[in-house]
Amino acid sequence: MTIIDKNADVPAPRTGDAATPLLEVRDLHVEFHTRDGVAKAVNGVNYTVSAGETLAVLGESGSGKSVTAQAIMGILDMPPGKIPHGEILFQGRDMLKMSNEERRKIRGRKIAMIFQDALSSLNPVLTVGYQLGEMFRVHQGLSKKEAKAKAIEMMDRVRIPAARERVNDYPHQFSGGMRQRIMIAMALALEPELIIADEPTTALDVTVQAQVMDLLADLQREYNMGLILITHDLGVVADVADKIAVMYAGRIVETAPVHEIYKRPAHPYTKGLLESIPRLDQKGQELYAIKGLPPNLLRIPTGCAFNPRCEMAQDICRTEVPTLHRVTEQDGSELPGRGSACHFWKETIHG
Ligand SMILES: Nc1ncnc2c1ncn2[C@@H]1O[C@H](COP(=O)(O)OP(=O)(O)O)[C@@H](O)[C@H]1O
Ligand code: SF4
Ligand SMILES: [Mg+2]
Repeated sequence: MTIIDKNADVPAPRTGDAATPLLEVRDLHVEFHTRDGVAKAVNGVNYTVSAGETLAVLGESGSGKSVTAQAIMGILDMPPGKIPHGEILFQGRDMLKMSNEERRKIRGRKIAMIFQDALSSLNPVLTVGYQLGEMFRVHQGLSKKEAKAKAIEMMDRVRIPAARERVNDYPHQFSGGMRQRIMIAMALALEPELIIADEPTTALDVTVQAQVMDLLADLQREYNMGLILITHDLGVVADVADKIAVMYAGRIVETAPVHEIYKRPAHPYTKGLLESIPRLDQKGQELYAIKGLPPNLLRIPTGCAFNPRCEMAQDICRTEVPTLHRVTEQDGSELPGRGSACHFWKETIHG
């Protein structure tokens, strides 16, 4: 089965080019072998992230966003998880083929991850200063005193007020937003080149979400890091991401520069997601939500996985898997970085 359209210009530059991306995921497949059968969670994902670039990975719950991230970080449960196919190139080298020791040098140091739930990632019985300082004691061999000074510096950097006074406080003494800042500080401690943030603001109030997202974007620019921002909420990424990859049933169904996707989606699923974002000028109106549910990954529909929920579906959608087509203007001129895995992408974007 061909999933990648050989004519598509997505993903961008191949390794060996002058501009080797920081991270390149190529045709990644992940499956889970369970008692009920094989759940195909990731079915041929391709994406690239360069230094200083933010990729937002978007999709409903269960679309394979976190599993892709776990494969990159090397924290997949194997078994039941398995990577039957694919490459994960970091600075041009496939991490799936590295020795454990080589991988360890990259993961955690060069690639760091931020999770949704700060409270369960932090140890409740240790002060935040101790936990932050541990990064420097263990990885850089700093003394206790030096590590504490570094911890305060990092807390300052993620704009935690009165860092010097608060360094000896415990996680529960901080608000949810401040705890997430501590997680960001821990991820940044070793100055990684790539950060994967998996729903980093989902557990927070809307106003705090925006502050944490802004902080993440500022730090990403300051450190010139690559950032993969995983979210199910199109609303939170508009101001911070450069490009978007929309996932459905373990595949990327649309890619685009961020500002373009809001104006002109080229996939019916993206269109549905956009129509379900609450808008200030539509108060009182009922929200459009995509009908139906994401597919059971043990039995992904044939053809386009989205077909049972798609209002535009035709016969071909039930039999042929749409490849990621290059999306162009009506006159055929280029729309760089744009791709849609829909047989009717033209009708969707231009129709
Ligand atoms: N440890 C696991 N064992 C079995 N199946 C799993 C496991 N982790 C993930 N999956 C399957 O992979 C699917 C995709 O999960 P995930 O990547 O976490 O989705 P999301 O897009 O919400 O982050 C899940 O719906 C589940 O069916
Ligand atoms: S390929 Fe068909 S079913 Fe899939 S999104 Fe496009 S129109 Fe809908
Ligand atoms: Mg997830």
